[in-house]
Amino acid sequence: MVIVMAPDATPSHIEHLVDLVDSAGGEAYVTRGVSRTIIGLVGDVRRFETLDLRAMPGVSDVLRISAPYKLVSRENHHRRSVVTVRGVPIGGEHMTLIAGPCAVETPEQTLGAALMAKAAGAALLRGGAYKPRTSPYAFQGLGEAGLKILAEVRDETGLPIVTEVVDAGDVELVASYADMLQIGTRNMQNFALLQAAGEAGKPVLLKRGMSATIEEWLMAAEYIAQRGNLDIVLCERGIRTFEKATRNTLDIAAVPVAQKLSHLPVIVDPSHSGGKRDLVLPLSRAAIAAGADGVIVDVHPAPETALCDGPQALVGDDIQELADAVSSMSRLLGRTLA
Ligand code: E4P
Ligand code: PEP
Repeated sequence: MVIVMAPDATPSHIEHLVDLVDSAGGEAYVTRGVSRTIIGLVGDVRRFETLDLRAMPGVSDVLRISAPYKLVSRENHHRRSVVTVRGVPIGGEHMTLIAGPCAVETPEQTLGAALMAKAAGAALLRGGAYKPRTSPYAFQGLGEAGLKILAEVRDETGLPIVTEVVDAGDVELVASYADMLQIGTRNMQNFALLQAAGEAGKPVLLKRGMSATIEEWLMAAEYIAQRGNLDIVLCERGIRTFEKATRNTLDIAAVPVAQKLSHLPVIVDPSHSGGKRDLVLPLSRAAIAAGADGVIVDVHPAPETALCDGPQALVGDDIQELADAVSSMSRLLGRTLA
């Protein structure tokens, strides 16, 4: 951390800061320039943060040198992590395809979507039993009945399941069925939920908030990590911009940026970002080319009847075409399909 003093800072301002840092167990190194003085702080940044240095007389600015997120940062963890979901790897040399219905609607629809996903080569099944909807009148998901359907479909297909939890109070229940917990864009900064997920003993798929910066996203991941769970996969799913042609704007640069800043695997959701079936393939290609560790896509046996997000669901041969593209591009990049 570096404190930049104002041009009119007095020697007693500087002395006061040095004493404060000393009392917090740190060391302060004062460098006097022609017009400005800077003070370099060495020690535990968390202790300095409680000092409210910015508010001290004579201080012009306080700059952080190290990342504010520690456990998920790549600064002290240079090797990129691989997260394993019931034996399925995400990250490293692997490219993971996750597919399934946006929402669990019926046993037949969920099994139909799962069989499409499996036949194409997906390694994990997605599907929401608790749906975070904009409208309180829209289908909210089947709740525990949906989790039971997912568990039956897992038994039948062998595909481990990724499913969303929207309330901290449901984490234990959802974790008792799920192989991976999903925290969606709308809940990325639901701190109680992040903490509960961090204690659930299951890997977590953390989607980026649609209006969150990458730093905020990584700080959200830090909440999970801080509770002892480092099995976190980040998912870029599009952000809010002025553009209306797509549902959200896929921030493709977020993939290499997040991978540079964090050791966690990063996947992309081209379905929720584009919002349209015909965009899923090109956005998936872009994601893989940018270095994503996988893609998560919606599939539905009859999207015209879907209770949630039908227009973005792959149907028929779409998922096979997508899986073929994912697999051939992965090979080109020296990665193998999980
Ligand atoms: C689906 O997974 C989400 O719940 C859905 O995208 C929410 O969007 P909406 O409720 O605005 O349709
Ligand atoms: C989902 O994947 O089901 C979902 C709700 O996505 P998002 O949180 O990205 O909107």
